[in-house]
Amino acid sequence: MEIYVNPSSLAGCGEPVLAVGVFESAGELPSAVSDLDEAIGGLISRVLSEGDFLGKTKEVTVLYAPPTDDGPQRVILYGLGKRDKVTVEAVRKAAGEVAVRARGLRAGSVAFALPAGDALPADEQARAIVEASLMALYQYDRYRTEKPEDAVPVEKLTLVVEGDDDLGPSVANGRIAAECSNFCRDLQNTHPGEATPAWMAEQAETMAAEVGLDVTVLEADEMAEAGMGGLLGVGQGSAQPPKMVILEHNAGKGLDTVCLVGKGVTFDTGGISLKPGLNMHEMKFDKSGACAVIAAMRGAALLDVPVHVVGIACLVENMPSSNAYRPGDVLTCSNGKTIEIQNTDAEGRLILADGLVKATSYEPKAIVDLATLTGACVIALGDQYAAILGNDDDLAAKLIEAGQTSGERLWRLPLGPEYREQIKSDVADMKNIGGRAAGTITAACLLEEFVGDCKWAHLDIAGKASRDSDRDYLRKGGTGFGTRILMEFLSNYEA
Ligand code: BES
Ligand code: MN
Ligand code: ZN
Repeated sequence: MEIYVNPSSLAGCGEPVLAVGVFESAGELPSAVSDLDEAIGGLISRVLSEGDFLGKTKEVTVLYAPPTDDGPQRVILYGLGKRDKVTVEAVRKAAGEVAVRARGLRAGSVAFALPAGDALPADEQARAIVEASLMALYQYDRYRTEKPEDAVPVEKLTLVVEGDDDLGPSVANGRIAAECSNFCRDLQNTHPGEATPAWMAEQAETMAAEVGLDVTVLEADEMAEAGMGGLLGVGQGSAQPPKMVILEHNAGKGLDTVCLVGKGVTFDTGGISLKPGLNMHEMKFDKSGACAVIAAMRGAALLDVPVHVVGIACLVENMPSSNAYRPGDVLTCSNGKTIEIQNTDAEGRLILADGLVKATSYEPKAIVDLATLTGACVIALGDQYAAILGNDDDLAAKLIEAGQTSGERLWRLPLGPEYREQIKSDVADMKNIGGRAAGTITAACLLEEFVGDCKWAHLDIAGKASRDSDRDYLRKGGTGFGTRILMEFLSNYEA
């Protein structure tokens, strides 16, 4: 996508498609919009006065301007809701809707006026428009051999801003956020026959070479040496060997260290505790935590965040076979702790155990893990919030705030020794399931056993990693969830 800033008036911008936001019950139009209105023969005031368009969110109308030399040819009028309620996320949602509508016009380009006027800072609006448009226009069609003949992709995005605001950095940040999220979505959406642990590791290596990250891939024999019985146990039923990818930004510079750990189950059949068939294909998204970590590492390099970041992706396929681990087995993880398996479908926590122990070896100031860990999380929070749990209030608060900024909302759940009771085992240090009650919390209790005394936060993204319908600036399929939270969190890191 080519992105430009056009320092013109709206009335004289000469854009083939210009999108203009309007607040609900705002009274008089802002002067730039009223000049535009005049230039296109009063079409905007007309739809407003007729009551055909109220400025509510999700309202979108296309107006065809009478031909002029320098005016826009089409105006996409869209609603922003009440002025005093407008947020950056509302601008993202609106821009996403508009970008998709503009693609439908087949004009090949779209231009945006900064929609919220002085209700929000110009740089935040610019960034939000770029980020959301690029995310909304994302399409995953690698496997389609027949593409629609009349499709015209939007190849040019312009911000029309009169005055001398330097929006360059905001545009660049919006683009990086979207492109890293879309990279995450590409990894997520790749089908599980192709996206094996080895394929994921290759993608991470290629990306690392492109942006200048250090990369190490631990193979099964090295895992065995390190005693990673969790990863190896879950992986032993698959013909595809497990991999642990370790990406590093700013290694060896004496900076504070932050570790990111991702669950990368490339396909989760449930193993011997086989899942029911309905919607099992969606378990290709069980690698989403690792995808977000890999994509955020790309962002960390491109943004050159001021911290040593270690990204650890635990990659494995959970299959039933005659080699598979079984209910009743006891696995020994790399810190020596033992876990009795009572359900082979509770596999994410077992592989994260070894990933978290690896993270502690860097003596980090913070560990953040992301995982599509529990169906219980989807029951608790639906598809609106991901859960955050952890042992440090300050770290949790920073991540929640980063999510507030990025539009990826987190809701904290409790953790504590009372819940730890539920994973007591008769034969090992703990068991891998804690009963139906508080399933998201008992899963996190198990993880906590592997973080030592590090500050740690766990994001259960089971309800957010993928969608089965389009919404706002997200499409059906992988959402890239967490990528932007991590990038925002790392960008704001202060020693
Ligand atoms: N990958 C699943 C969790 C999941 C469920 C993610 C639905 C996205 C949507 C995880 O490995 C799993 O199977 N968890 C079990 C745990 C149970 C056996 C204790 C679950 O949540 O049912
Ligand atoms: Mn599972
Ligand atoms: Zn799983």
